[in-house]
Amino acid sequence: MKIAVVGSGYVGLVASACFAELGHEVICVDNDPEKLAALVRGETPIHEQYLPELLARHRGQRLKFSASLPEAVRASSVVFVAVGTPPRETGDADLSYVEAVAREIAQSLNGYKVVVEKSTVPVYTSEWIRRVMQLTGAKAADFDVVSNPEFLREGTAVSDFLYPDRIVIGADSERAAQILQEIYAPLTKGTYYARSAGVIPEPPGAKIPAQLILTSAKSAELIKHASNAFLALKISFINAVANVCEAVDADVEQVALGIGTDSRIGKRFLRAGIGYGGSCFPKDVAAFRSVARECGYDFPMLQEIIRVNDEQRKRFLKKVRTALWTLRGKRLAVLGLAYKGGTDDIRESPALDIIRSLLSEQCSVVAYDPAATERAQQVITGDITYAEDPYQAAVGADALLILTDWEGFAALDLARIKSLLRYPIVIDGRNLYSRETMQKEGLLYVSVGRATVELESSRASALAKE
Ligand SMILES: NC(=O)c1ccc[n+]([C@@H]2O[C@H](COP(=O)([O-])OP(=O)(O)OC[C@H]3O[C@@H](n4cnc5c(N)ncnc54)[C@H](O)[C@@H]3O)[C@@H](O)[C@H]2O)c1
Repeated sequence: MKIAVVGSGYVGLVASACFAELGHEVICVDNDPEKLAALVRGETPIHEQYLPELLARHRGQRLKFSASLPEAVRASSVVFVAVGTPPRETGDADLSYVEAVAREIAQSLNGYKVVVEKSTVPVYTSEWIRRVMQLTGAKAADFDVVSNPEFLREGTAVSDFLYPDRIVIGADSERAAQILQEIYAPLTKGTYYARSAGVIPEPPGAKIPAQLILTSAKSAELIKHASNAFLALKISFINAVANVCEAVDADVEQVALGIGTDSRIGKRFLRAGIGYGGSCFPKDVAAFRSVARECGYDFPMLQEIIRVNDEQRKRFLKKVRTALWTLRGKRLAVLGLAYKGGTDDIRESPALDIIRSLLSEQCSVVAYDPAATERAQQVITGDITYAEDPYQAAVGADALLILTDWEGFAALDLARIKSLLRYPIVIDGRNLYSRETMQKEGLLYVSVGRATVELESSRASALAKE
């Protein structure tokens, strides 16, 4: 299949590389000349596991990059739109990039095309795209609009794309639905997984072959918004439970295990912490609320998800204040800038939000992140420096703050950290350590939804052992 993908961001670039991996001819288009030049030079502009390998394998062969949307449209039978849909001040999605692309596609038609919404968009967008294209002069018979929402997670985007829980195709035309099914056939029929060599490794728990869900375009649009809202709800729910745990001296990790082992609920997304961030959940929950309201249904539960999430960052700051007594002039080691581990994405990162608040309280910050430092440097100003590793960040700091759940942050040499810190305080916004471990190390340990490990108790337990 000949495919054009418009947008070479986290979704567009991964989709392009994966479609090429599935055997399709792909032209990936972007209107950012710098990004495009980097891609053509052979660079990988985002941090994603397996993406460099896939780009190296297919670049210049089945995968080409272009600045010309019209040329890409003319050379393809299917056009995936994967441009940004950022939030507007009002909370609803800014669809102006999608509209601009729809107009350009309409002007470039040279035969029947399927236009696919890959970006996350509110219900009715497929109808708006159709309308805009017709207003621009496209004939109704020359195109169909399909919704094919993307569920990949940054950090594991390639694996998620190639081993998805499900593939949703929302099409109101049989012809378009057929074409989309052909594109994904290597995954839904399983031929990709049966290849003898070069297959991207199967992640644990993968469902093979991928399940296909055929729906109307509107249902598919709603599936994406409702999925993200539900995941955000799970996070805010466990964070609210964590707050009750703190009030009664219970342990949210134990509670989450007890809840999550119920197969109707599931363990995933029940990790208490400083809340969700990223380019999707915050904007999609707000957009879903907005679109529901526009359609005549108030959905206050969505507002509550957002409120709990915002509150979680404030509660964390209060913990830092409580642990350190005064903040002004304190030097803080911060582990994590990205909104979650495994990515360099800092959009709506709770870590950056917290760092900004600390800087505004006249703390100095020494931050470390394995992938997101360069991006953070471009947006954070003030008394912040960047370390080469967690240990360098800890030198002389009044406390160590863990703000991102990078795997490496859960495996620190704690004795070394303790020897480098000025005060032996670790404030963990991601619950990466057990209280017992921190107690054994003699650290004052503050986490989320669990009692603080005080220095006294570690001394008391040392005495008890003697
Ligand atoms: N990032 C994720 O994890 C994720 C997951 C699922 C869905 N989504 C959705 O996918 C969409 C894209 O997200 P992203 O994170 O990839 O965004 P992104 O900002 O990383 O990438 C968007 C790209 O589109 C390009 N672009 C914008 N207008 C263009 C135009 N007219 N012509 C060509 N290129 C153009 C931009 O230059 C940019 O490279 C959003 O709607 C998002 O909600 C994102």
